[in-house]
Amino acid sequence: MSFPIYFGSLLALAVLFIFGIRRREKSLNSQFEKQLKAERQNSALHEQRLQAFLSAMQASPNGVVILDSARRIVWCNQTAARLLGLDAIRDVDQHIAHLVREPQFLEYLAQENFENELRFDNKALQLHPYRRGRALLLVRDVTDVERAEQMRRDFVANVSHEIRTPLTVLSGFIETLQTLELGVDEQKRYLQLMATQSQRLGALVADLLTLSKLDAGAKPTLERVDISELLRQCEYEARTLAKSLKRDIHIQFDVAPHADMLGSTSELQSAFSNLITNSVRYTLTGGSIFVTWRENTLTVTDTGLGIAPEHVPRLTERFYRVDKSRNRSAGETAGTGLGLAIVKHVAQRHGATLEIDSAVGVGSTFRLVF
Ligand SMILES: Nc1ncnc2c1ncn2[C@@H]1O[C@H](COP(=O)(O)OP(=O)(O)O)[C@@H](O)[C@H]1O
Ligand SMILES: [Mg+2]
Repeated sequence: MSFPIYFGSLLALAVLFIFGIRRREKSLNSQFEKQLKAERQNSALHEQRLQAFLSAMQASPNGVVILDSARRIVWCNQTAARLLGLDAIRDVDQHIAHLVREPQFLEYLAQENFENELRFDNKALQLHPYRRGRALLLVRDVTDVERAEQMRRDFVANVSHEIRTPLTVLSGFIETLQTLELGVDEQKRYLQLMATQSQRLGALVADLLTLSKLDAGAKPTLERVDISELLRQCEYEARTLAKSLKRDIHIQFDVAPHADMLGSTSELQSAFSNLITNSVRYTLTGGSIFVTWRENTLTVTDTGLGIAPEHVPRLTERFYRVDKSRNRSAGETAGTGLGLAIVKHVAQRHGATLEIDSAVGVGSTFRLVF
């Protein structure tokens, strides 16, 4: 082989070799780039998913805190920060026990079993341990729940009290009748007083049932309500009540003969009757009561005892009475304390408002505006 040929082949080989390496390098490079690109895309996707996930946790109405195995804060949403007084950025990596220092909470954290939630300060907390000692701490604001529970407790206490009062009176009379030899007249008097108490119990049960029906919430079935007829019944009821209370009260109704409206007859009947019997109950002999129906408005005016302004906003609360002693001693005069609560409920269900104007010693006006 001559030198030039030898040299030429060597050169060709070298060129091929270098070219080959370059090609391999190139393909290696592009493979690497592809992989890198895929990885970048992958991690962008992960980041996107993480952000979406964190936004979802941010949107949660509950407070969410992620804790590591040492109970240090990994992440928390704004609700948790607000409820627990944390700073969602600055407090990362801090021990939760250093930031939320309520003794009940520290005790809760220290235990092993997190089946129950912890309540303090109108907040409900629960720890949910998961992978490798990490834990999710969920926090809820339970102010409304606590308020509703308190209302329910008060209501049960009130109902029990209202039942116990006539019951005590009744059993006292029964004992008297059993142990004492009473004359016929005295017996009659005792039985009359007992009848009054049992009527009181009956009225309480009736009003409780009415309220619970209203509370059940289903919309009232609308029908044409014959207001003229309904108020005729109310007038009769008012006169009968005044007579049974032995009060001479001037009662005047002014209602067009064919007044009607859309609503629930039974609900309107109990609302109207409550307002009108109240005006009889809280008006003394010599007083007057005027009832009118005009332009979808019922107005009940009396020249009775009147109500001091500080009581007016609370009248529609269940069992709220202006003068407890007046009511308790009043025997059959006493209402159940639920009347105006029922009126307000019925008004709401009919899209009506209840307006009250009153002055002590002058009288009151109750208006239902539909
Ligand atoms: N027409 C009125 N005049 C004066 N006070 C009234 C009148 N209507 C209601 N009230 C006061 O409002 C309180 C609440 O009324 P209501 O809910 O009907 O309960 P009650 O069963 O005691 O009548 C009554 O206890 C009474 O003190
Ligand atoms: Mg009443």
